Amino acid sequence: DGATLDDLVKRDSYEVALRVMSDEELYKLEMERVFAKTWLLLGHDTEIPNAGDFVVRDMGEDQVIVTRDRNNEIHVSLNVCPHRGMKVCTAEAGNAHAHRCIYHGWAFRPDGSFIGAPVEKEQMHGNLLTKDKLGLKKARVEVYGGLIFATWNIDGPSFDDYLGDMKYYLDQLFCRTDSGLELLGPPQRFILPCNWKIPGEQSGSDGFHTLTLHRSLMEGGVMGGTPESIYDNAPGMYGVDVSCEQGHSLRCLEAAQTFKMFSDISFEGKSVEERLQMLPPPGITKELIPQLFNNLSPDQVEQLATIPPQVGGLFPNILVAFIFAPRTDGGSSGALALHTYVPRGPDKVEFVNFIFAEKDAPEQVKRDMLQNSIQQTGTSGVIEQDDADTWPQIMRNARGVVSKDITLKYQALHGHERPEGWKGGGLLYPGFTKDDTQWNWWMAYYNLMAEA
Ligand code: FES
Repeated sequence: DGATLDDLVKRDSYEVALRVMSDEELYKLEMERVFAKTWLLLGHDTEIPNAGDFVVRDMGEDQVIVTRDRNNEIHVSLNVCPHRGMKVCTAEAGNAHAHRCIYHGWAFRPDGSFIGAPVEKEQMHGNLLTKDKLGLKKARVEVYGGLIFATWNIDGPSFDDYLGDMKYYLDQLFCRTDSGLELLGPPQRFILPCNWKIPGEQSGSDGFHTLTLHRSLMEGGVMGGTPESIYDNAPGMYGVDVSCEQGHSLRCLEAAQTFKMFSDISFEGKSVEERLQMLPPPGITKELIPQLFNNLSPDQVEQLATIPPQVGGLFPNILVAFIFAPRTDGGSSGALALHTYVPRGPDKVEFVNFIFAEKDAPEQVKRDMLQNSIQQTGTSGVIEQDDADTWPQIMRNARGVVSKDITLKYQALHGHERPEGWKGGGLLYPGFTKDDTQWNWWMAYYNLMAEA
């Protein structure tokens, strides 16, 4: 309707028009300028351990086949037959050394290259295009900590540039043991009636909603704090929020303080090893502790033991959740999960929940991690039930003729400040939770959307 990007994302007053959540033209532009440009999370390499294994996933509205070939390389190819546009792979997952289109039978290798067609002489009559031009369109792929990322932006920023300063913190969750992580089962998936940016911007580390939307969880002792003094004592409110210009963010919260709701422990005067023994990070058993020192720097281990990243997100559509939960022996099994919010049109999002445990962890710990994650951040989890109630209501308002002109307000902006002795990089926001990380998410969105 003639509105410019600056009318929608108001950089002078730190507001965003609510109608960004419902505008159909904007959605189409987002598919081109965000989802076809940036790196996107598709899955984990333990989903496709053998040659020929594949899963079908989405990059925005474009469906792709994620495969492993005989040389152990992972490929991401558009699931669109270059002959006449049919889906090449109609299954969601499986094993195949050739993907054969059901329409006219063209076949493709796991790396996307063209194998051949039935009655090939007749189908290729004229040979207008050589076989090397008939393969599936390929995305650029990067595997980090087993996580499979891909982008259509073949000459765009490297994956390292995309992660930026967040790698130091993410390594502590995804690259900390010798054998790495394992995805526990296929991801849980469900569709919610809301625009992808509603959960997307919340994953830019919205800390304030924990106090109110999730208040019942704190009152019940599920999520920190005490019923008497939730506002003073909620452990999820204090720490160091880390962010960067790429729009990612992580809230680093004190481990002992977070765990206080289950057991009163103090790290005072304790070495890093002693802290790890007292309260192993979620998913780490006492036997796995030495592996942390093999894979992380001493500073990273110290942070993981003391004030680990616990919740946040990667731009544009990933949530990171690392949750402490008690074990009967007094330690923590917890949960480690990632969500992606996959756009399904301007008013629908597919919520995809990936649940992890260390490959080398005992089976019982894996079961605990799975159970904790399902109960907390899964499709039926106590945390997501709250969020999934809110997002569709915001969406409904984004369509009202009057209400769509309301703005989202980011008033709690403080500016970044480096706490003394902090070892990691990034833009740092110490103390009580703030809005800065979410505003950084919107600035990353603005910058991509402003690029022609
Ligand atoms: Fe796939 Fe014709 S559309 S073979």
